[in-house]
Amino acid sequence: MSTRLANRRILLGVTGGIAAYKSAELIRRLRDHGAEVRVVMTPAACEFITPLTLQALSGNPVHLDLLDPAAEAGMGHIELARWADAVLVAPASADFMARLAQGMADDLLTTLCLATAARIALAPAMNQGMWADPATAANVATLRERGIHLFGPAAGAQACGDIGPGRMLEPDQLVTETAALFQSRLLDGVRVTITAGPTREALDPVRYLSNHSSGKMGFALAAAAADAGAITTLIAGPVTLCTPERVQRIDVESAQQMYDAAMQQLASTDIFIAAAAVADYRPAQVAGQKIKKQSETLTIELVRNPDIVASVAAARPRPFTVGFAAETDALLDHARDKLERKRLDMLIANDVSVPGIGFNSDDNAVTVLWAQGELALAQCSKRQLATELVALVARHYRLQLA
Ligand code: CTP
Repeated sequence: MSTRLANRRILLGVTGGIAAYKSAELIRRLRDHGAEVRVVMTPAACEFITPLTLQALSGNPVHLDLLDPAAEAGMGHIELARWADAVLVAPASADFMARLAQGMADDLLTTLCLATAARIALAPAMNQGMWADPATAANVATLRERGIHLFGPAAGAQACGDIGPGRMLEPDQLVTETAALFQSRLLDGVRVTITAGPTREALDPVRYLSNHSSGKMGFALAAAAADAGAITTLIAGPVTLCTPERVQRIDVESAQQMYDAAMQQLASTDIFIAAAAVADYRPAQVAGQKIKKQSETLTIELVRNPDIVASVAAARPRPFTVGFAAETDALLDHARDKLERKRLDMLIANDVSVPGIGFNSDDNAVTVLWAQGELALAQCSKRQLATELVALVARHYRLQLA
């Protein structure tokens, strides 16, 4: 299965033609390959298949009109044009291709095609006579010259009884052709789970134990993994960050909840990155009522939380497992010890005693360790560092598979 479509945003244009019934299947196939699909239909397309069907299959509202105030208030046409990684028009009618070749913007789909910087591909579907007509041939030549891709048409028996070229390619062929529009990325289709942020360990209904983790590093890693084509899940403790695009987020509070979520993800995880600052201990008892001040001192008994990353690394089969180590002294010694003790494939170590990096800051500098080596990455933004780390993790993950 091609994984180049993972996380790709496909704007599917459907124009009026009997082949529009195949668009329903096409949406399913594109989504099976990990693509996100939004559908734009021309009025003629709605005569052949209902917007409701395509809305249900794409999981997104179908866009119909250029001048629809409600749609513009949601995702406006320019936003939609920017959203797309590729525009695929299937079926593309002779009329649509003629309007596109003329540079017209007389409906939503032609307007989007003009406005977008994304690659455009057309899957023509029409009667063989219309396809053979010199006017269509001239339009096809014009569109090709502008860099627009044409998928098909295939030849064969047509709905109108004719035999010849003009049939739309089958959904599977269109998926293969669409995938080929894209370059492969480092983590195409690889399933990555990342923990991020702090955990909160309840003492009573209003108090908890926690730490200063902002979640920025884990969120940056999730964004970088999704950019690299990974199907990315973020298990997030309580943080105030927005979910990166194309990332599925599971919110948790306590270490136990984070552990449970990680275990549930295990069977569908190829790479696990533990960036969360998990509380090592939790109160042995959680008071049912708010604890009142009664004496000068208060002793709270703490019990160990499960070690999430070590549990993931101990699972069989196990994902490629990456941990973090925040240290204040003897960074590399402690880090290598942690790598071995927790049986990790890689460990990302940072010295949190250095001002300006680590907890809560926007920058970080780390040393990455693995069994046979290590690499120091200089101080830079967490976003940039995340891209470098994802590339490094991807390289080692692939080496392990080889
Ligand atoms: N970690 C985890 N579950 C825990 C504690 C830590 O998954 N209950 C993960 C963190 O997400 C991080 C790595 O383990 O990736 C290292 O965490 P750290 O707290 O530095 O290590 P500890 O095992 O607690 O070691 P020490 O207390 O000796 O520093």
